Amino acid sequence: MSYRQHCKTLLAGAALATLGWGVAEADELTLYCSPQEEWCQLMVTTFTAETGIDVAMTRKSSGETYAQIAAEASNPKGDVWWGGTGDPHLQAAEEGLTEAYDTPMLPELHDWAVNQYEAADGKTVGIYAGALGFGYNTELLAEKGLEPPACWADLIKPEYAGEVQMANPNSSGTAYTALATFVQMMGEDEAFEFLKKLHANINQYTKSGSAPIKAAGLGETMVGIVFQHDAVTQKVAGFPIEVVSPCEGTGYEIGSMSIIKGGPNPESARKFYDFALRADVQTLARDAQAYQVPSNRNAEAPPESPDFSTIKLIDYDFVTYGSSDTRTRLLARWDAEVGSLPN
Ligand code: F6P
Repeated sequence: MSYRQHCKTLLAGAALATLGWGVAEADELTLYCSPQEEWCQLMVTTFTAETGIDVAMTRKSSGETYAQIAAEASNPKGDVWWGGTGDPHLQAAEEGLTEAYDTPMLPELHDWAVNQYEAADGKTVGIYAGALGFGYNTELLAEKGLEPPACWADLIKPEYAGEVQMANPNSSGTAYTALATFVQMMGEDEAFEFLKKLHANINQYTKSGSAPIKAAGLGETMVGIVFQHDAVTQKVAGFPIEVVSPCEGTGYEIGSMSIIKGGPNPESARKFYDFALRADVQTLARDAQAYQVPSNRNAEAPPESPDFSTIKLIDYDFVTYGSSDTRTRLLARWDAEVGSLPN
């Protein structure tokens, strides 16, 4: 820009300020994204095409994103945390890291999404749901001549030694959902006994929750403990994966969204929030091979999405397992009693 043009721009800005229009907030948004990278990218391009707002997006797992927002609390850098399991969103709300927003979209949402909003006094909201389970590589199973696993209890059998992969519950919301599910189904002490036995069969704790089923698709592990929709993605992509809804029953996530308190672009944040709750926007998930159940009642779930009416779901207690005390305590116990065990 020439010196002359620069002066003109300054004068135009001064004129707008004199008119009382103030200095407009930059059309920018910093998005912390925790679902599938492909879906994050699609949300960004669609939002930018519609609004002209530039989005800087990073994808990190749910627990990692919670930790980043907590670390940045005195100087917040993000505006919206979109997706990821609801428990750490609830913890962030309780700790005052996120802020309430009175969205006009609430009447369009399923009760389970609104419950999340109400539990957090409007500081988070449900955007999708997904049931926990596992998937296995059918070819590896046949090679080893094993019976197909159907229950959580099968995964601790000696024949699965070294064949099971899951994420680390500190970084991954999927793995924390598994930990909290076992505690709710078995009682805490028994759940930790189960997790220790499972540890003997685990070949790796990954950072991201969906990594184990991607590895299973490639034949790097036989079983991956993941959300069922992530196993569906691999199966639809043509990998030899079978999706299992465990016979004993299972927990689930309410994938959530929160506005980060004190973020640099609050107006863009609210625009993104309303955008992300729209039916047409949630229906786009299938273009990113994301098979979660959408929270807007008018959005269409892809036909391949796991059918919740056929899954034996536990009555997952989001308020307790998303509380700061319980989540912090269970993760510390997992580190001390399971994660630190030799393999
Ligand atoms: O891959 C998508 C997904 O399973 C979401 O449904 C979920 O909220 C998120 O990943 C959890 O990822 P992570 O376990 O890495 O936190």
